[in-house]
Amino acid sequence: MYGIVNQAIQGLVEENFGTEQWVKIKEKANVSYEYFLNNEAYDDDITYELIGASTEILGWSAQELLTAFGRYWILKVGYEKYGDLMKAGGSNLETFLFNLPNFHGRIMLIYPKLNPPEFKVEKLGDGHLILHYYSSREGLTHFVQGLCFGLAEMFKETINIELISSTNDIMWHDRFEIKIS
Ligand code: HEM
Repeated sequence: MYGIVNQAIQGLVEENFGTEQWVKIKEKANVSYEYFLNNEAYDDDITYELIGASTEILGWSAQELLTAFGRYWILKVGYEKYGDLMKAGGSNLETFLFNLPNFHGRIMLIYPKLNPPEFKVEKLGDGHLILHYYSSREGLTHFVQGLCFGLAEMFKETINIELISSTNDIMWHDRFEIKIS
């Protein structure tokens, strides 16, 4: 994944636990890079190793870490660094989620080697929808949930999100039922 993802893991750890913990995490993950370049593509293994080492050093479960990382990604990376792109995604949570299938298409203009997730949305009623998440990567379900919580916080709305199925055939495919209030 692009270095911006690893930079964000570093940001989450350093802001909440300090640089010493980040140094320990890098050691445990066997990562020798001193720093990551945001627009350079790194092997996915590095990101997974950093996530695994973070859970061990910080004593968090993978679910807790990925959920926190999703919130951080929206509120600290999306909102603070790419505010215009986030605004273009919609002015409320429901519109933003309906526009999600096209979102990473715009991101690819900045990060052309992106291997993006895919999303599909089914409307069940007002503020009630099914979000489909597809990926060539495994194990990021709780990251997606954290992203949705972050979006709800960004729009100052309340979200209820429930994982209703998870399959891994050709691609990883999660279905989330979402209620916005
Ligand atoms: C301006 C804001 C955003 C930027 C700059 C951005 C950029 C990126 C980048 C660089 C990656 C790594 C993929 C790669 O390097 O191949 C990524 C992955 C990902 N993004 Fe975004 N993204 C943004 C917003 C969002 C939003 C709003 C969502 C959904 C709510 C989202 C969902 C994901 C997911 C789930 C992944 C993990 C990759 C996977 O599932 O295969 N992103 N994004």
